[in-house]
Amino acid sequence: MLTVALPKGRIAEETLAIFEKIFGKSFLFDDRKLILEVGEFRFLLVRNQDVPAYVLHQSADIGVVGLDVLEEKDEDLVRLLDLGIGKCKVCVGMRDDEELNYNSPDIKIATKMVNITQNYFSKKAMAVDVIKLYGSIELAPLVGLADAIVDIVETGTTMKQNGLKVVETIMESSAHLIANKNSFIEKKEEIISLYRKISEEIKKK
Ligand code: PRP
Repeated sequence: MLTVALPKGRIAEETLAIFEKIFGKSFLFDDRKLILEVGEFRFLLVRNQDVPAYVLHQSADIGVVGLDVLEEKDEDLVRLLDLGIGKCKVCVGMRDDEELNYNSPDIKIATKMVNITQNYFSKKAMAVDVIKLYGSIELAPLVGLADAIVDIVETGTTMKQNGLKVVETIMESSAHLIANKNSFIEKKEEIISLYRKISEEIKKK
């Protein structure tokens, strides 16, 4: 049995669609259920940011999670495969009518991704004041909470609708298949076999 942690939402749906194509049967969660068992697989539906914790503590053997989350958490996990779904970018955004003043001694950045933000600006030798938020990040520069934001941009609509622009792209992200290090040893054959099947399937796209 392989336990797979999936991030609730579109990435879980797209991953289960890949499983359906590979195994030719239905992989569908019942309404509100958080566990699904089909054949040799057990799927867990968790929050995107929680996938690394489930896999790190081996409550799941493998998981699917955005590269942005992996970079932010920086846990000791095996990165197996880029699934090429859930593509987005992590960007620095600002109000349309403002520019980032690199020489300012106290730039305030609002973000969910504190570590990515700190690493990025420290590489530029810029000391920034990071304000941790949990959502609606785009609001922060509009009401003076921050000078800029670091956030996920997928279509760009949220920034545009709120009068913000992308000033820099920090990284590109997509969903990756990850494994727990012990599971990768204990269940190597099952994991490698699944890895091969998924690789084949996503190549067809
Ligand atoms: C993300 C991000 C932006 C939005 C960008 O939030 O924080 O607000 O998507 O998408 P766009 O470029 O297509 O407009 P999301 O709703 O995914 O999740 P959250 O609850 O973690 O903020």
